[in-house]
Amino acid sequence: MQKAVLTRLGDVAIRRCEREDIPAVIGINAKTLPEHYSDYFYYEILEDFPETFLVAELNEEVVGYIMCRIEYGFSNMKRFGLAKKGHVVSVAVLEEHRGKGIGTKVIQLAQEEMKRKTAKECYLEVRVSNQEAIDLYQKLGYKVTSRLEGYYRDGEPAYLMATLMDS
Ligand code: ACO
Ligand code: ZN
Repeated sequence: MQKAVLTRLGDVAIRRCEREDIPAVIGINAKTLPEHYSDYFYYEILEDFPETFLVAELNEEVVGYIMCRIEYGFSNMKRFGLAKKGHVVSVAVLEEHRGKGIGTKVIQLAQEEMKRKTAKECYLEVRVSNQEAIDLYQKLGYKVTSRLEGYYRDGEPAYLMATLMDS
């Protein structure tokens, strides 16, 4: 069966992740990021938040993904108060396919879905040394709202970056 494509970027199709894509997603994560999760974690996020778990596919190969959660908690953008927040848990593109706009597009599409779910802001954590990703988030309107010391297992701090999503 043909899978429903959300958008195309040249020959790259962006669509929702399906259970059978998870092994490929885990493979991309293993190649591109030092943070790994249990297999169960991916299936659980897909089960709970299928609208914001997207994959980019080229020639029937998954080359990138984004997975997110919708959470309710203290606002990262406002001084006080609670907010419904989108959380970009992980986004990655295989190295040979970077710089083609895939990362930008999957984040934008995930944000559209978060807005549809009435999230008012979106946040993520990123290694302070990951300049490429930080630049991309800044380009998309994210701002550093705090620095989380010792956030990663190897001791590296994270920036918490967040953006308001106006409708
Ligand atoms: N390789 C890498 N970056 C390039 C390249 C290239 N060949 N060419 C241009 N860029 C730059 C550009 O400045 C571009 O910005 P522009 O749109 O102003 O030109 C910027 O990278 C991002 O461009 P995209 O093509 O939209 O993003 P991409 O598909 O390359 O994905 C990503 C960005 C996901 C950060 C990717 O670099 C990656 O997978 N990195 C490793 C994993 C990672 O660090 N993920 C984020 C961790 S934090 C978290 O998950 C919350
Ligand atoms: Zn996170």
